[in-house]
Amino acid sequence: MAAKALIPALFFCFLFSISTISHSYRFYPPAKPCKELVFFFHDILYKGYNRDNATAAIVGAPDWGNKTAVASPFNFGDLVVFDDPITLDNNLHSPPVGRAQGMYLYDQQTTYSAWLSFSLVFNSTEHKGSLNFAGADPLLNKTRDISVIGGTGDFFMARGIATLSTDAFEGDVYFRLRVDIKLYECWK
Ligand SMILES: *[C@@H]1O[C@H](CO)[C@@H](O)[C@H](O)[C@H]1NC(C)=O
Ligand SMILES: *[C@@H]1O[C@H](CO)[C@@H](O)[C@H](O)[C@H]1NC(C)=O
Ligand SMILES: *[C@@H]1O[C@H](CO)[C@@H](O)[C@H](O)[C@H]1NC(C)=O
Ligand SMILES: *[C@@H]1O[C@H](CO)[C@@H](O)[C@H](O)[C@H]1NC(C)=O
Repeated sequence: MAAKALIPALFFCFLFSISTISHSYRFYPPAKPCKELVFFFHDILYKGYNRDNATAAIVGAPDWGNKTAVASPFNFGDLVVFDDPITLDNNLHSPPVGRAQGMYLYDQQTTYSAWLSFSLVFNSTEHKGSLNFAGADPLLNKTRDISVIGGTGDFFMARGIATLSTDAFEGDVYFRLRVDIKLYECWK
């Protein structure tokens, strides 16, 4: 008898859970960001002579390239690992609030385009924790959107979009990105 009564109850639970799942996805995330941050990201590529201040290195190059010069055409096939300072303004020498750590790889033979995968690791009085990023970076676009796929610490489970724009560059040695982060899911 008890088992018979349980079946409709379980069925009801099942329907209820389906309706709550579709419900939460339909109305979430909210259209307005729950947190907005702006950072500058400085990258100095190792070119064979600048070991002192290089923050990024080509660690993999196609057969026709090498690790002290970007490959031609369009840097295609180069894999770069970086540990770049992030600052609140566009000055490379401002005190960093953390590091951008990860890699980019150039993945098109017909234009400048990279795939980015990195974490912003914060270590300042204002922010502790990390944010993780991934996405396509067509460098010649004025702005490029990549995904904020998660976070830890102050950014526990965060998700959103980061809009990148190239703020400055010097040949292929140095570039500075402006990163406008809009989080649409905040748990803290
Ligand atoms: C790296 O250091 C060299 C030598 O000190 C300097 O000439 C160069 O401007 C520095 N590069 C950047 C991007 O600060
Ligand atoms: C790397 O490639 C560049 C450009 O082709 C070339 O000028 C340079 O000599 C090469 N460096 C080494 C160490 O082979
Ligand atoms: C964070 O900053 C503190 C104080 O400057 C320092 O002692 C600590 O080593 C830093 N931690 C990391 C992971 O950089
Ligand atoms: C790059 O720019 C083109 C044209 O402006 C746009 O259609 C495309 O969505 C942009 N790509 C990204 C990843 O932002």
